[in-house]
Amino acid sequence: MHSADFDPTSPAYLADPYAALKRLRAEGSCHVDPASGQWFLLGYDEVGAGLTKITRGNPDGPDRHVHFPENPFSFDGPGHTGPRGLLASTFTNRALASFRDRAQLIVDDALRDKESGSELRVIEEIGFPLPYHITRDILGVPDVPHRDTLRDWTWKSLELIDAFLPDDKLQENMEASGRLAEHLGEVLEWKRGHLGDDVFSIIIRAAEEGEIMRPQQILPFIHTLYLAGMHTTVNQTALSLYTLLQHHEQWELLRAQPDLLDNAVEEILRFEPTAQYMRRTTEREVDLGAITLPAGVNVVCWIASANRDESQWGATADVFDITRSNARQHIAFGKGPHVCLGSWLARLELRAVLGTILDRFPNTTMPEQDLVWSSNVIRGPEELILRLEA
Ligand code: HEM
Repeated sequence: MHSADFDPTSPAYLADPYAALKRLRAEGSCHVDPASGQWFLLGYDEVGAGLTKITRGNPDGPDRHVHFPENPFSFDGPGHTGPRGLLASTFTNRALASFRDRAQLIVDDALRDKESGSELRVIEEIGFPLPYHITRDILGVPDVPHRDTLRDWTWKSLELIDAFLPDDKLQENMEASGRLAEHLGEVLEWKRGHLGDDVFSIIIRAAEEGEIMRPQQILPFIHTLYLAGMHTTVNQTALSLYTLLQHHEQWELLRAQPDLLDNAVEEILRFEPTAQYMRRTTEREVDLGAITLPAGVNVVCWIASANRDESQWGATADVFDITRSNARQHIAFGKGPHVCLGSWLARLELRAVLGTILDRFPNTTMPEQDLVWSSNVIRGPEELILRLEA
């Protein structure tokens, strides 16, 4: 395939982006996409350097509509590190230990009525409820009766980071993002009277003190926090089960050696990362070592390509191997100052789901089904059906 034929919106691409990205990578680890004019970074080193070195804070950059003005996550330097630092202690691996029990309870609850032979609709029954409730707990916000509407708004808001979104979708998604912001604005008013030791309260207090962030930054900050860990985890949960069951010998290996679970999760994140790319805009010329990017260009940092780059992973780059010793070097959670804040939380949730299903239903199978793959940026099947077998 020549880069001119690259179409990341086609069903064939969505079913297997890795084949197309491999062919692009063979042409070079960096080039300009003729269709969109965006600069593609494809090699492991280039993607890592791009994510680390290209700043976010361009007010005219492609992500401007996602983050609203004043969102600390769209800044670089102290305006970003200060507010982000407020949450650092909440999201460390150690601090999150208390969420392990909570995640396990949610997973157990989702599987409570299941017996051998039951069908599991992964996304509806476990994939969404898990991050939904964990996000509520971390932020300290109540459950809502219209959960499906909220699910739709959070998905459409997140999808705004799609580098190939057509204009009509952009409009629709902007509206959904606005509705989510309205909802979170109401929650903010409620929250002011219900402060606790949760993340929302930490942010409100810091904004009132005014040293690290300002009151008008609360809502955009919460908006990002609310959606960043939702559909990423939903999709990665489905992709984890899909990948393991598609490579049945690896499922069997994990059954036989449950202590491989941590590394299996890392290999899944390398092999099938739901966050397929992240965007940046260069404010000035950026030296990435082998290449220099000009100022004022939109850049797509292809995580999905970096995670399969033969120059990093060798001849077995396209092999799914849960014993891979350097699997942890994947960049499924990004790299640099904006690296995923919730990576430990996500790992904990993925382990809870996989560990429990492997333990209770070790002979689970994935029946033949036509998967519909959603989104080229936060990619995953719209639903995945499994047959649970003890
Ligand atoms: C498997 C699930 C997840 C994946 C694959 C994922 C992936 C990513 C990636 C690739 C980035 C980098 C963005 C960039 O460089 O532009 C990121 C950022 C972020 N993630 Fe995650 N994420 C996941 C789960 C979570 C969870 C559970 C949370 C919890 C709140 C979270 C919160 C965030 C936040 C706040 C940022 C922005 C950080 C910043 O700009 O400083 N993520 N995530």
